[in-house]
Amino acid sequence: MEKATVILDRDFIVAAVDEKVFGSFVEPLGRCIYHGIYEPGHPKADAHGFREDVLEVIKPLNLTLNRFPGGNYTSTYRWEDSIGPVEQRPWRAEPAWYCIETNEFGINEFADWSKRNGSGIMMTVNLCTRGILDAMYVLEYCNFPKGTYWSDLRIAHGYPEPHGIKYWCLTNEIDGPWQVGHTTGTAYGMLAREASRGMKRVDKSIKTVLAGSSNPGMPTYPSFDAAALEESYEDIDYLSVHHYLSNAKKDTPNYLAKPLSTDKFFRDTVSTIDYVKAKLRSRHTVNISFDEYNTWHGVSESDEQRHEEEKIWAVAPPLLEDAYCQEDTVALGGMLITILRHADRVEIACMSELVNCISHIRTSASGVWVLPPYYAWLHFSKYGRGTSLVTRIDSPKYDSTDYTGVPYLDAAAVLADSGDLAVFAVNRSLDESLPLELKLRGFSRYRVEEHIVVESAGPKDTNTEREPRKVTPHSRGNAAIDGGLVSASLPRLSWNVIRLKKIQGSAE
Ligand code: AHR
Repeated sequence: MEKATVILDRDFIVAAVDEKVFGSFVEPLGRCIYHGIYEPGHPKADAHGFREDVLEVIKPLNLTLNRFPGGNYTSTYRWEDSIGPVEQRPWRAEPAWYCIETNEFGINEFADWSKRNGSGIMMTVNLCTRGILDAMYVLEYCNFPKGTYWSDLRIAHGYPEPHGIKYWCLTNEIDGPWQVGHTTGTAYGMLAREASRGMKRVDKSIKTVLAGSSNPGMPTYPSFDAAALEESYEDIDYLSVHHYLSNAKKDTPNYLAKPLSTDKFFRDTVSTIDYVKAKLRSRHTVNISFDEYNTWHGVSESDEQRHEEEKIWAVAPPLLEDAYCQEDTVALGGMLITILRHADRVEIACMSELVNCISHIRTSASGVWVLPPYYAWLHFSKYGRGTSLVTRIDSPKYDSTDYTGVPYLDAAAVLADSGDLAVFAVNRSLDESLPLELKLRGFSRYRVEEHIVVESAGPKDTNTEREPRKVTPHSRGNAAIDGGLVSASLPRLSWNVIRLKKIQGSAE
């Protein structure tokens, strides 16, 4: 294959990467919470019932923010079911996922777990089937110091200190007809505006997130977003959008190109936001909260059958547990690169979801293991903090079913405060390695610290409980530096991180 080149110039920056892009999402769906992060009685559970073996694989992700509790789950969410003495909490039919919700794990348990994990919380309120006052009440319960009905109730429940939750999603995917309470952009925008105003009267330090489109393929995208923004622009802080990439059609070259549509989704969403800003002559800037993203191939036939036959209306059934494999690492890698490329406007990003369901972390009664895309996410979080740089890419290309001129290479680069550089790169070719030439401009005296590679013998290779280390990262990548030129060969279907260390004492 012909070589690809990337030019990096120290003066050409996108923006500082917001630390809130290293977030995730925890929904009471399938085995994400129950049998996932929380399993009282499990030999590895602590006194709260939090699984320590699961925490051990979550902690290295260094998550800054976790969205909770939904998701579709919030459309009929009654938050007060999940507080107070556990034995008095009602069990409910949860109609979004046809599960039974025991409410054993609620707001306070999530706050305790988040503290244990060291992550912040982004909370979703139900504006689908409840309303403004209810949103103000849950905020009062969580954040009000003391001396009111809801704050004193929290204190009576054993939480004298407010939870101090700063980020609040004003419901979820209300553009989707599958949502109980689905409505139009205009009606929703008016409701969200009033909810946001009311909530900010209770706690003016919070930031609110308007629910935008659930995916760019929605027939109402982007008009729903524009209409909702027009009603609420000055009163909200972020616009939420979601995107999942699927290889349900088993067309891998096309699947690997799909992050290009995430890129377009961001560009179009920014245009929509800025159009409304211009129309309203506003000085306020709304940014993107990409609070659900991942690859997701849908329910497999056998899962669906099992669900139909035995799991419907069950407590915490195994739902949406795709066997994520190496090709998902590369597709997800493309999404992570895209988030970095849009660091100027994407300020929040939450991997959906954290454990078991639509997740790269899998548990059984006896253990926990991670699927290959976990490593791309881990590297993104570990080395993606700093300033995102413009990557000027010139790559050989291919055509796929839905895309023409797909570059085999995609890449992003982050300059850390220490001066170290991390270059993230995917090679989308299923057959050939890709020679890479990286030209550094304005960077002097660097050495290659490490060239991390996640690759596998075949695109469907994955990890299982029996073979948990079949696909793991290695540091045998061949990146080498000579002055301002870094050369490397990126193995076929691989995720790469080239870490360049600034030689100390060197001036720019
Ligand atoms: O993450 C699974 C579901 O995907 C969420 O509940 C919903 O918001 C989205 O459609």
